[in-house]
Amino acid sequence: MNTPNYLPQVKEQYEHLPYPPCEPKDEHNRLIRTWLDSLPMINHYCFQGKEGFKNRFRILVAGGGTGDATIFLSEQLKDTNAEIVHLDLSSSSIALAKERAAIRKLTNIHWVQQSILDIPQLELGQFDYINCIGVLHHLVDPDAGMNALLSVLKPQGGIGLMVYGQIGRTAIYQMQSLLQLANQGCNEADKLLHAKEILAALPALNWYKLAGDDYGDDQSDAAIYDSLLHSQDRAYTVPQLYEWLADGHGLTIALSDVNRGRFPYLPEMTLGREAHKVRHLLKERSERDRYAMSELLIGDLTRHIMYLTHRADAKAPYGDPEYIPFFVHDPFCGRALGELFVQKGDEPTVLHHQELGAMLVAYPGKYSSKIFTHIDGQRTFQEIFELVRAEPECRNAPPDNEQLFADFRQPFDALNSIERILLRHLSCR
Ligand SMILES: C[S@@+](CC[C@H](N)C(=O)[O-])C[C@H]1O[C@@H](n2cnc3c(N)ncnc32)[C@H](O)[C@@H]1O
Repeated sequence: MNTPNYLPQVKEQYEHLPYPPCEPKDEHNRLIRTWLDSLPMINHYCFQGKEGFKNRFRILVAGGGTGDATIFLSEQLKDTNAEIVHLDLSSSSIALAKERAAIRKLTNIHWVQQSILDIPQLELGQFDYINCIGVLHHLVDPDAGMNALLSVLKPQGGIGLMVYGQIGRTAIYQMQSLLQLANQGCNEADKLLHAKEILAALPALNWYKLAGDDYGDDQSDAAIYDSLLHSQDRAYTVPQLYEWLADGHGLTIALSDVNRGRFPYLPEMTLGREAHKVRHLLKERSERDRYAMSELLIGDLTRHIMYLTHRADAKAPYGDPEYIPFFVHDPFCGRALGELFVQKGDEPTVLHHQELGAMLVAYPGKYSSKIFTHIDGQRTFQEIFELVRAEPECRNAPPDNEQLFADFRQPFDALNSIERILLRHLSCR
């Protein structure tokens, strides 16, 4: 018999404790929306906003577990001829995912119980989008996993990837070391028992305890095992990510933290405004150095979540009048934002996003308020700009497209950094 190319303990863990834990019957009441897998986001970041998802779009969910991403993608694409392949090592996880799909009457999913590392031999064909969340860091050689994924990615396709973040998981690794010492020679049930006991009895200044809610409130056996007792887990800093993916594979990285977008990676946003001198220096630092600084500053990036593409120009471009700006993730409306982003001499508009704990600072231009007012998720920039130029105050000296794009740049960048405004091409109207 051939030696398997995965750790038997890893397979065993996910057979006994499928992840994420789920109750298939919950599909009757709610749809879990996984952050990276919303089609407007995939389109904006991987397909220049030009993908209509109507032409036999093929998706691989690699290490799909109990099916959160698969179900969400499949639901969004159920009225198209798209195909989704859900691949995982664990038969019990696949069984739960299948049950969820059956409740939703989803028929566009193909199920494969195999290892990611065997993908090149499985003749699955090529994919437009590959989701791989929380899997590669559990392989002995994560790069072998990445190579397997890249072997079936279409040249113009994109990957949605999540791997652990080292800085944010500092206290988790301390707890893992502690539990390894406590659990030598113990079986799975005892390991869990000891972990729960220690968690309930942590001293006040233990780093894990200090981090409090940052590690989530899921105290299920599967969650505790996954984070504190895993037999194979590694994490990455931002510089390591760039060395691996950008330098090593020539991939373009677009980081997008759940609900926060790029914001936690931007030191100009995570650093207090009083740090004037350092803020000034930031302009001279490369993107990866600024992201690395912010990772160290903000401290809570337990996961790095991102889109990867071969193309450097996969993101929908700002500055093309054929694109439609639209609001996502928050119920923003153009008219209300228009009232907020009014030019006020030297004063910026400051938007406090309470839920994110983010403070967005932008200098709106003379026309930004009017531009916002005309954004309805259907109009292109060209159509919006025509409406702005038709307004009485603009008729005498109508601004051209270039002026209007420059005018709107800062408000756009601020809202785009938290992924509340995205773009799609008019061909996808
Ligand atoms: C932490 S779970 C993540 C599940 C899912 N991606 C999610 O985010 O909800 C990791 C999954 O990867 C699967 N896995 C681990 N190693 C694998 C391998 N070599 N090939 C295929 N799946 C693997 C496990 O069975 C498990 O279902």
